[in-house]
Amino acid sequence: PEDLVLIYKGILYPSFMCSEETFHALECFEAREDDLLVVTYPKCGTNWVFQILNEMLLFSQVKVPSIYQAMLEFGKPGKIQSLKEASSPRVFATHLHYRDIPKSFFEKKVKTLLILRNPKDTAVSYFHFSNNNPVLSSYGSWDLFFNDYINGKVCYGSFFDHSLAWGKHIDDESIMAITYEDMKLDYATYLKKISDFFGFSLSEEQLVVVENKTTFKSMKENSEGTHGKLGNTFFRKGEIGDWKSLFTEAQSKAVDAKFEQHLAGTKLGEKLNYKKYCE
Ligand code: A3P
Repeated sequence: PEDLVLIYKGILYPSFMCSEETFHALECFEAREDDLLVVTYPKCGTNWVFQILNEMLLFSQVKVPSIYQAMLEFGKPGKIQSLKEASSPRVFATHLHYRDIPKSFFEKKVKTLLILRNPKDTAVSYFHFSNNNPVLSSYGSWDLFFNDYINGKVCYGSFFDHSLAWGKHIDDESIMAITYEDMKLDYATYLKKISDFFGFSLSEEQLVVVENKTTFKSMKENSEGTHGKLGNTFFRKGEIGDWKSLFTEAQSKAVDAKFEQHLAGTKLGEKLNYKKYCE
């Protein structure tokens, strides 16, 4: 239904979480050099990586707020004021497109972790989440969802536009891009990369603690505590390749064509390892 979404600068957002006033207030948001930022398109591993940072920062006695509070664009405009008073380091997450990030994040060279996921698994994850989460529009069928997804008519707009714009900056010194798939297949290596990127310098033992606390199984089991009653909707399957359960041949080709048109030959396109995960 229409009232579940709002349109801001041409992109749909969940109206339960976002408001035009908050978007306005965000425009003059002042980032700090020691802020940390996680950027994702929805369903690419936001909660996973946020929890990783949470666990890593615990070793420095830093208590990270809930992901709902940490999402830059969520909440009432007054939250921007309370963020001004929050102590450093502040941890933020966002699904915003590059052009909509408050400029001071770039001016202050805030360390930004960009998490990417292949567009087909992202679609399947988004479909199930939309149907399981009452603040999003639900869909009578996968085909209906797919049409909206491929046309960028879902919350946060087109996966391809989001990726293309962020992709132009993946070599910026303050940005590190990692894929969901790489984390799944070589978790210890990427945990170390994350720790090093943010300068946490965790020991091997500490990294193992983080690893054990942030497995899919462990996060699913704790989801009610971390996310409340609907927590388990954030931890559905946690696997690579589930797109094959829903995609038709034609839908698969349609995503291949979008990839070819927008991302093939770009650095981000290469990072996604499209042939391996989407063919
Ligand atoms: P699936 O729906 O494919 O299972 P986000 O946090 O951005 O909403 O992303 C949600 C996706 O990340 C879901 O994908 C969810 O299961 C998966 N996920 C969450 N925690 C995970 C973890 N610890 N390991 C692997 N996947 C995880």
